[in-house]
Amino acid sequence: MKTKRDLRHFTSFMILFAFMVLAASSSFPQDPQTDLDKKVLDFLQTHKYQWRYENISEEDGKFLYNLILEKDYKNALDIGTSTGHSAIWIAWALSKTGGKLTTIEIDEGRHQKAMLNFERAGLTDYIDARLADAHDLVPQLEGPFDFVFLDADKNWYVNYLNHVLPKLKVGGCFAAHNVRNLRYMRGIREFLELIQSLPELETTIDETSSMGISLSYKKK
Ligand SMILES: C[S@@+](CC[C@H](N)C(=O)[O-])C[C@H]1O[C@@H](n2cnc3c(N)ncnc32)[C@H](O)[C@@H]1O
Repeated sequence: MKTKRDLRHFTSFMILFAFMVLAASSSFPQDPQTDLDKKVLDFLQTHKYQWRYENISEEDGKFLYNLILEKDYKNALDIGTSTGHSAIWIAWALSKTGGKLTTIEIDEGRHQKAMLNFERAGLTDYIDARLADAHDLVPQLEGPFDFVFLDADKNWYVNYLNHVLPKLKVGGCFAAHNVRNLRYMRGIREFLELIQSLPELETTIDETSSMGISLSYKKK
């Protein structure tokens, strides 16, 4: 007959086992495999509670990181760098796929802080950080891109999509942040209507992100 103590041991074992399965199922490197992993993880750990400029959450960063690795994306664009949180997660994944990121920020102070963060995280070689108005620069970028993360001015989301779509590779993903944010409802509503109506896109909304990330894959 099982004693209460046996039962407690069994429950603890099952919790530990479930935790290990969950950890193993994520490709996020809890154990750094390279010097770069160690540097990025140290940076992210040190700065965990210091992201104050409308930056994405750590959960959303991990989500982008895992998506890029899973799809083996290589040519990425990040619109709205701020101080670089999303860019760091994206560029870290690209350092493993052999890719490169272009990121755009209009505010000089944020751009400078981002540059410093990229250097501290050891990711400068994987990032082309531009100080520019994305309204002007995005139409000029040549592409092609296989991953785009849009997190800038919401009332321009539709225009960004229209400019980037011809430069997005088939199989590529156009991800947009804050699609659940009611503050920006007008721009976001138009954007959601557009991505859900275009026949060349297959769109889902990531339910795990509290802010909402739309993922539109180019089918043809
Ligand atoms: C929500 S924040 C981006 C956060 C960033 N993705 C991160 O996780 O660190 C939006 C940024 O877009 C920038 N932005 C707004 N309009 C822009 C434009 N027209 N061109 C470039 N950047 C713009 C803002 O200055 C702001 O820093």
